[in-house]
Amino acid sequence: MTKGLTIIGAVLGLAIAAGAATGQDAQQKALNDATKARQAQMQLYAFNLGQLGAMAKGDVAYDSDAASAAATNLASLARLDQRRLWPEGSDDMSVDGSRALPALWENLPDVMSKGSDLVTAATAMEAAAGTDLASLQAAMGAVGGACGACHKAYRTPSN
Ligand code: HEC
Repeated sequence: MTKGLTIIGAVLGLAIAAGAATGQDAQQKALNDATKARQAQMQLYAFNLGQLGAMAKGDVAYDSDAASAAATNLASLARLDQRRLWPEGSDDMSVDGSRALPALWENLPDVMSKGSDLVTAATAMEAAAGTDLASLQAAMGAVGGACGACHKAYRTPSN
């Protein structure tokens, strides 16, 4: 090989390596973005459930409108199509800050069923929250239980 060809070969090699790195960066960024988005969704769950929980415990005075709004938000959030938020390869071993266990991707039907348990419980809460405090309190257990069941199975205890 002449010297000129060697240099062209080296430059090509570099270009290909750079292309591969860019592709990998983009893929990692997509995984990071999806992880952040689903964590934001979870934060919105927690915020709205927190408002309901504060009333249920008596820390905040019961307010039918506020309870209704929080319950409607929670149920609407639970009904969002979340499939794009959980790409394979975004578990706690692969993405910094992710607390999703790899087991989640090995048990997708069970994860979907836990997600639909939350929709059911949040829909019942939506109907109950604005009625009166006793109805809100009665609906709390199922919602908290639906969150907890999925965390127990598919979220790391801490990181
Ligand atoms: C179908 C499973 C599932 C359900 C249902 C679920 N979660 Fe989660 N939740 C997870 C997983 C998995 C994580 C870890 C996600 C990650 O770090 O990538 C998580 C993370 C969280 C976090 C931490 C978010 C962050 O910023 O890191 C909060 C808060 C949370 N969930 C609250 C809730 C609440 C409140 C509910 C119920 C209203 C709920 N979740 C229902 C699976 C679920």
